[in-house]
Amino acid sequence: MKYIGIDLGTSAVKLQLTEADGRIVAAESRAYGVRYPHPGWSEQDPADWKTAVFDGIRALVKKHGGADIAAIAAAGQMHGLVTLDAEDRVLRPCILWNDGRSAKETAWLNAHFGKRLPEMTANIAFPGFTAPKILWMKNNEPQLFEKIAKIMLPKDYINYLLTGVHACDYSDAAGMLLLDVKNKRWSPEMLETCGITEAQLPRLFESADVIGTVKPEVASALGLPENTAVAAGAGDNAAAAVGNGVAADGACNLSIGTSGTVFIAADRFCMDEQNALHCFCSASGGWHLLGCMLSAAACNGWFAGNILGETDFAALQAAIDPALPGRNPVFFLPYLSGERSPLNDVNARGCFIGLGSDTSKEQMLLAVLEGVAFNFRQILDSAGALRPTESCVCGGGAKSSLWLRILANVTGVRLLVPENEQGPAMGASILAMTAAGAFPDVKTACGALFANRKLKAVIEPDPALQALYDERYQVFLRLYPALKPVFPLLQN
Ligand code: XUL
Repeated sequence: MKYIGIDLGTSAVKLQLTEADGRIVAAESRAYGVRYPHPGWSEQDPADWKTAVFDGIRALVKKHGGADIAAIAAAGQMHGLVTLDAEDRVLRPCILWNDGRSAKETAWLNAHFGKRLPEMTANIAFPGFTAPKILWMKNNEPQLFEKIAKIMLPKDYINYLLTGVHACDYSDAAGMLLLDVKNKRWSPEMLETCGITEAQLPRLFESADVIGTVKPEVASALGLPENTAVAAGAGDNAAAAVGNGVAADGACNLSIGTSGTVFIAADRFCMDEQNALHCFCSASGGWHLLGCMLSAAACNGWFAGNILGETDFAALQAAIDPALPGRNPVFFLPYLSGERSPLNDVNARGCFIGLGSDTSKEQMLLAVLEGVAFNFRQILDSAGALRPTESCVCGGGAKSSLWLRILANVTGVRLLVPENEQGPAMGASILAMTAAGAFPDVKTACGALFANRKLKAVIEPDPALQALYDERYQVFLRLYPALKPVFPLLQN
């Protein structure tokens, strides 16, 4: 039998057709755009996801036949607010995870509830989370808010189109700030605060539970067998962890994607008392701590792609003097979309600091890679006793061995670089396999599929460079507090 894993990302959807031993038979990807209707806002049209996902599934089926596809699961960008009316029409473009418009609502939630908020939801509010966006809609688009019949997250919209079942898994639901994460049920107080009812919210499942089967008319349009099972799926970070075999208590996965995330698995519910790290459910039945910087590989894409106008990022990095890392006079603050972890500041913005008339583009490029690594260190340092000594890596940025060496030397964490890493799409495939009964549960699947995992590289921190980076990190730490009062003045 075969399984489809979908990763509904921010810039594109990736789909893969996988055998139960983890071999990828075929892969497809379809890109779509993000709209920025206002500085700090970001939106996508769910219709674009539908076109991309359905087209991708049809292409997989066309190449390899659909008859033996047993199950589908999707991983998705988290926190996005998708709203449907009573006729199942999408009410407005999805407000994405890196959208900062709900700063006021976020501040109100944190001030109004204080310590009660993490008691109810295991988290404090961040503008990216779903509940502040619902409140924003209530305050700013009351006519649309009144029409909301269903609230869902991005990948759940795809599952809804496939099955007609309004469902969500715990890992993604945890990022809505509506879930009592410890007890895995909706928080009545949060629902009341947002002016919504449980009837508008999805039914909750574990990630590898079957939520339903593909509707007959959709199955025939896509070339899938009738009764293809659809699993609940997972938020992209929880799925990336599964896709990298990171399920054991305390194991860590660092993702250098559009966003940069630190994922630390936990068998038992545990919270960061400072609330710098989010506490979410995992896709393997437990929980995890998650730190999320909004712009990681996005910073490299912006500087190398948009500003320098290059497409060959590897060639650009190859031109950096090997003696420069650890001695770069230029610093970069990676807050292109404001920042979630570790600052929770929608007003923060990206900055180059330390430019001189002799500054080269290579120094600036290196500063971008280093700035992201410093931010990763700041997130890791918030993990206290749970700070890992080693971690798997994934995401587009993890293809750069220079960036990984910088990351290891800045953070002091040994990095395990898997061969042929597939991130959330592989995690989703594993959830589909488990849902269809190929494995009894997700942890067993990870154990079986990653027992003989091949690593492309193990990157050990180099003590001499670590010492140099320690000094530069102390400078980095002083930059945001010095600039913080200025950032609100930059907004228009
Ligand atoms: C996690 C987060 C991002 C998105 C990106 O909290 O907001 O990692 O899931 O896809």
